[in-house]
Amino acid sequence: MPRALIVHYSRTGHTARLAGILADEIRWRGYDVDTEAIQVVRDWSLWRLPIPLLPLLPLLPVYLMSARFRRVWHRIYKQQEQAIRPLANADVSAYDLVLLGTPKWLYLSFPVARWLKTATGLQGRRVAPFATFCGPPLRVFEMEMLFDPLESRLCACGASVVDRLAVSSNFHPYFFFGEMERLFRFISRKVFKRPLVDFTLDGEVGKAEVKRFCDAVCRE
Ligand SMILES: Cc1cc2nc3c(=O)[nH]c(=O)nc-3n(C[C@H](O)[C@H](O)[C@H](O)COP(=O)(O)O)c2cc1C
Repeated sequence: MPRALIVHYSRTGHTARLAGILADEIRWRGYDVDTEAIQVVRDWSLWRLPIPLLPLLPLLPVYLMSARFRRVWHRIYKQQEQAIRPLANADVSAYDLVLLGTPKWLYLSFPVARWLKTATGLQGRRVAPFATFCGPPLRVFEMEMLFDPLESRLCACGASVVDRLAVSSNFHPYFFFGEMERLFRFISRKVFKRPLVDFTLDGEVGKAEVKRFCDAVCRE
């Protein structure tokens, strides 16, 4: 029986829920599945987390408009890491498939960045990243900003990236009256002509994406 490892970090539970659904789906497709939740040594306060992300904010309009700027930025920005507890499955070489889940913290989350430096045996592994973020799957601001740096790190470890999955959580921890969620709901209607909820795990597009992703990563 082929073996899969589903490893994820989740601060507020949304990526954890997606990881659980993926585990069931991948098992149903005939894999022996192990799971691991990355644990941080110390939780950072909600207001400390965005500090390392601030350098991009004044440059965001240029980032969104220029593909060349994005390529340069992804090479030079400093990816913050966060200390994680010892892993049960630090060596992933025994697995045929590794699914790596992260919330989007502008780029990949800090604990997942540390996991990429800690895990061994990625060389030659088939790996597929999955993520949750508040917004709809906007091509540049969500998908490219998260998956380009994440996938280039995976490739640098020798992994072959076989697919990617993004699901909206329709949840954002910042500000006080749901301002971010409201902004992303507005953008979703404008750009995709669909409510944001469609892109969540309970929505039509979100559910279809989960199935498509699981079929694709289990095909070989
Ligand atoms: C520091 C930080 C940065 C974030 N950046 C983004 C972002 O760029 N785009 C977005 O849609 N959501 C962003 N979010 C929201 C999270 O990606 C979203 O709530 C995610 O589903 C949380 O996953 P979790 O519950 O597994 O921790 C951010 C959240 C934090 C804490």
